[in-house]
This record gives sequence, structure tokens and C-alpha cells, in this order.
Amino acid sequence: MTTQFDRRADVAVIVPAAGAGVRLGPGAPKALRPLCGEPLLVHAVRRVAECPAVGAIVVAAPPDQVATVRELLAPVAPVTVVPGGTTRQRSVAAALDAVADEFDIVLVHDAARALAPPALVMAVADAVRAGHDAVIPVLPVVDTIKEVSATAEVLGTVDRTVLRAVQTPQGFRRAVLVAAHAAAAADDASDDAGLVEKLGVRVRCVPGSEHAMKITRPFDLAVAELLLSSG
Ligand code: CTP
Ligand code: MG
Repeated sequence: MTTQFDRRADVAVIVPAAGAGVRLGPGAPKALRPLCGEPLLVHAVRRVAECPAVGAIVVAAPPDQVATVRELLAPVAPVTVVPGGTTRQRSVAAALDAVADEFDIVLVHDAARALAPPALVMAVADAVRAGHDAVIPVLPVVDTIKEVSATAEVLGTVDRTVLRAVQTPQGFRRAVLVAAHAAAAADDASDDAGLVEKLGVRVRCVPGSEHAMKITRPFDLAVAELLLSSG
């Protein structure tokens, strides 16, 4: 059943989904690959649409799949679909252009994090509403991290207590995200907070979720299948 958005909702969510999924191996664009029988993008959008504060969703689709993605998402939520770009930054910028003026809080959420729970989306939006201009969900780094040379020599061990692994959704005051993308080079940063940092804006961390894992390689897809099928 299609989720209808609440008129009082104040959050727009951008879902970049135009990547090829090279690291997942040959096949369809990653966002359209099946996870327990449904495309990753459907899982991601369904969870976002469940959030009462979300009033708009804009998806950046692979440019040759815009019609397919519209059809795919029509039964899930009233989503706007735009053609994505050649880099993630360009895809986010294209979707940001299509966000209606009324939304002052904008979240950016990778389709590749298909199982990010609605509670995480709400927590990020709440932190922006509470006054933080930029908010990212993070987890502690569990592995020992070493700096290594191009010739595989260990240069040193990094203090992991000061490191965090960063997820999406990332949340922003709209004007901050617009300014960050206006100043960005197309190949800049692997996340939106990275662009915002370059403007000198403070970025606030909130606790992430293991379910918001990024599906990058075939192993991640297998883990996500297990997570979903174990309830
Ligand atoms: N993305 C996008 N437009 C691009 C590149 C990436 O919208 N030109 C999106 C992807 O669809 C994904 C998110 O950005 O939801 C994070 O990117 P990543 O996990 O790297 O996905 P892909 O780029 O598809 O994967 P790969 O790098 O393995 O090709
Ligand atoms: Mg990529």
C-alpha cells in the first residue's frame, strides 16, 4: 500500500540511487538489485516513507532507468524521481534541486543502506530540528586501523578511539546543504557532511545503527539477506 505523506511533515529525504554497483559485480545498477526478492531501493524508500516527519522523497535514478524506477516506487510512496549524475555528488545536487521550497530539513540517504531503520531517520531529523545544522549517524570503529605505504609497509597504528565509521541518513538545514553542493567539485567527498565541513560548519554525531550497513560487495548483500530473513 502506498504511504501518503503527512501535510505537517517538515523533512525531505534525498535518495541517491544512480550508482552502477561496480563492487557488487556484473548486473543491474545496485539500487535495482534484489534483496529477498525486492530491489534495494524499494527497501530503502519503504523505511524512509514510514517516518511520520517525512513529507517528500526525491530519488536520483540511473538516467536510463528513470521510468522504471518511477513505476517501481509508485506503489511504495509518492516519490519524485530525477535522473542522477556521473558522481554521487552530482546525483545529490540534482535531487536537491527538485526538493520543494517548504522543506527546511533535508536528509540524504544512500539506497545502498537499504535496511536503515525508520528510527534512525527520525533520530537524525530530530537532531537537525533541535538546532544542529549538520548531523551524521556514526558507529565506533572496531578493527585496529593501520596506516600503510604503497609498498605494504606499516607506517603506524592509528588511535581508533577518535575514529568513527559514518553512515547515512545525514541530515542538514536545507540552506547549509545547498551551499555545500554549490561549492562542491563533482568528485568531492564521499559524503555530504564532508562538503559541509569544508564550509566550516559544525557537524554533529548521533549514534548510528548496525542495520544501516552499506551494501557494497556480494558479502554485504548476503549479510543483508540473512538479517532480513531472520526478522
Ligand atoms: N550514487 C549515485 N550516483 C552516482 C554514484 C553513486 O546516486 N553517480 C549512489 C549509489 O546509488 C548509492 C550511493 O550513491 O546508493 C552510495 O554509493 P556506492 O555505495 O558507492 O554505490 P555505487 O556507486 O552504485 O557502487 P560502486 O561504487 O561499487 O559502483
Ligand atoms: Mg560508488
